[in-house]
Amino acid sequence: MKTYNVGIVGATGMVGQRFILLLHNHPWFKITALAASGRSAGKPYKEAIDGRWAMKEPMPESVENIMVEDAQADIDSIVSKVDFVFCAVNMKKDEIKALEQAYAQKECPVISNNSANRFTPDVPMVIPELNPDHIEIIKEQRKRLGTKRGFIAVKSNCSLQSYVPALFPLDKEFGVKDVLVCTYQAISGAGKTFERWPEMIDNVNPYIGGEEEKSEKEPLKIWGKIENGVIVPATKPNFTAQCLRVPVSDGHMAAVFVRFENKPTKDQILKVWENFVGEPQKLALPHAPKQFIKYYAQDDMPQTKLCRDNEGGMAISVGRLREDSQYDYKFVCLSHNTLRGAAGGGLLLAELLCAKGYFD
Ligand SMILES: NC(=O)c1ccc[n+]([C@@H]2O[C@H](COP(=O)([O-])OP(=O)(O)OC[C@H]3O[C@@H](n4cnc5c(N)ncnc54)[C@H](OP(=O)(O)O)[C@@H]3O)[C@@H](O)[C@H]2O)c1
Repeated sequence: MKTYNVGIVGATGMVGQRFILLLHNHPWFKITALAASGRSAGKPYKEAIDGRWAMKEPMPESVENIMVEDAQADIDSIVSKVDFVFCAVNMKKDEIKALEQAYAQKECPVISNNSANRFTPDVPMVIPELNPDHIEIIKEQRKRLGTKRGFIAVKSNCSLQSYVPALFPLDKEFGVKDVLVCTYQAISGAGKTFERWPEMIDNVNPYIGGEEEKSEKEPLKIWGKIENGVIVPATKPNFTAQCLRVPVSDGHMAAVFVRFENKPTKDQILKVWENFVGEPQKLALPHAPKQFIKYYAQDDMPQTKLCRDNEGGMAISVGRLREDSQYDYKFVCLSHNTLRGAAGGGLLLAELLCAKGYFD
């Protein structure tokens, strides 16, 4: 298999650092460019990070001396070194939109972790196991951008990657009508560690700006259909969400209540989860978990610390499925927010696009 050269835009951030670890020794992709803001540009990566390395694993030696470039000012140099880029930056929405479009129009595909383009109608927002067919919209996007190769593809918000994977296959079988979800989200979701956010120790914060809207609206694009050159969001299921920040380093948990059109038995639900296989599993993509949805029968599982790293942080852990007095069922879901929910989800999307020839 050919090796593809990859750039990370936002390489010094929390998600960028995850990308660095995940791409180390990747069988298809090799890091050849790192970019961040003007504050980091012009320095070797190790120096630009300047004590901000937040991963438990050490920084791979192979990136220590790569010179960080300016994501905006050095765009021509960056695109000349890569076949595509991952983008995870902390900038204003309109600036991110302009930045991602600039890379795409320089014929450099962009796999984005940012929210800026999630609702651009011809930009696919993909959880590779659930809606891989949405990447077909890229040919329409290329027409709009006037590109042959360049395009933008995005992954969804991190919180919904815990509960949407559990609901999506159930909807196909039994019709999901209403969903109430409360999320308990880790501090790395805000790009933070406890050292940099000591106020979160022994604390719960009931507000995460914009998160509830994303948690209710983004699933409907994932459930959407391609029609007349755009992705038309679905109008159901109905979602309502409350999102809380909790004192956990990594791992977003969700407590889910669900009402069905045709109420299944508990065994039917468990069978759907156990047997669910998506395109990444069929294609045996390097970062595809073997068992995407893992159910725990024990009452006190899944626990964040014990389960977030399942299958390299790419599997979804589910537990506590039981009947509810107001909804049909309730259960608990967990996913690793910077792996499946961010860099890992972006990487799996890139592997899917690569396997389907979108980087050639
Ligand atoms: N953390 C998560 O779990 C998570 C999950 C899903 C999605 N996301 C999304 O991923 C993106 C990055 O999140 P993060 O948590 O990694 O943020 P972060 O830790 O704050 O990192 C931000 C990155 O953006 C760069 N940056 C800031 N201003 C810039 C500019 N003007 N030009 C170029 N680069 C600039 C920073 O470079 P410097 O170091 O040079 O300042 C840094 O590399 C955000 O859009 C976030 O919403 C995060």
